Amino acid sequence: MLSTYLARFLLPALLLLTCSQTHAGTLYERLGGDAGLTDIANELIDQSAQDPDTRRSFHKVDIVRLKRLLREQLCELTGGPCHYTGDTMQHVHGGLGITEGEFYGMVDHLRAILDARGIAQADKNALLALLAPMKRDIVEERK
Ligand code: HEM
Repeated sequence: MLSTYLARFLLPALLLLTCSQTHAGTLYERLGGDAGLTDIANELIDQSAQDPDTRRSFHKVDIVRLKRLLREQLCELTGGPCHYTGDTMQHVHGGLGITEGEFYGMVDHLRAILDARGIAQADKNALLALLAPMKRDIVEERK
């Protein structure tokens, strides 16, 4: 009687509770949680700030702060336990004159970083799909 109760109700309930607390099953979790997103954000900013095709606007930027805000944003966006404390995409990128080419250059860096980490194709596409709508607020020049 007790074992049936345990097997049917208590154990599934406990399992569900544990899963929801560790954010299992979210894109956040599949990207490696806090450690994974910290690495992804750091590598993306480092590569974008060094690549001659994308580095132009990163000149004079507080890179440590930018990495932290990008990590927060990616964490919140993918269902992680974070709250993005930065400004709107339109506000921070406004006036930088970011081109379509620079935007896609950064997306290429992200793609390569996710590939190198062995992230599944579906999860890579899911992350890119979350970022794609931001393009209209970031890109100012159609080049
Ligand atoms: C979907 C793509 C992008 C996302 C999610 C993103 C995200 C962010 C975030 C979270 C911040 C910090 C916000 C704040 O300071 O409150 C930021 C700032 C910045 N982003 Fe982006 N960004 C994207 C594309 C780009 C591209 C394509 C470039 C240039 C090639 C770029 C250059 C910058 C620069 C230079 C800053 C710092 C601005 C400043 O501090 O004055 N970003 N971005």
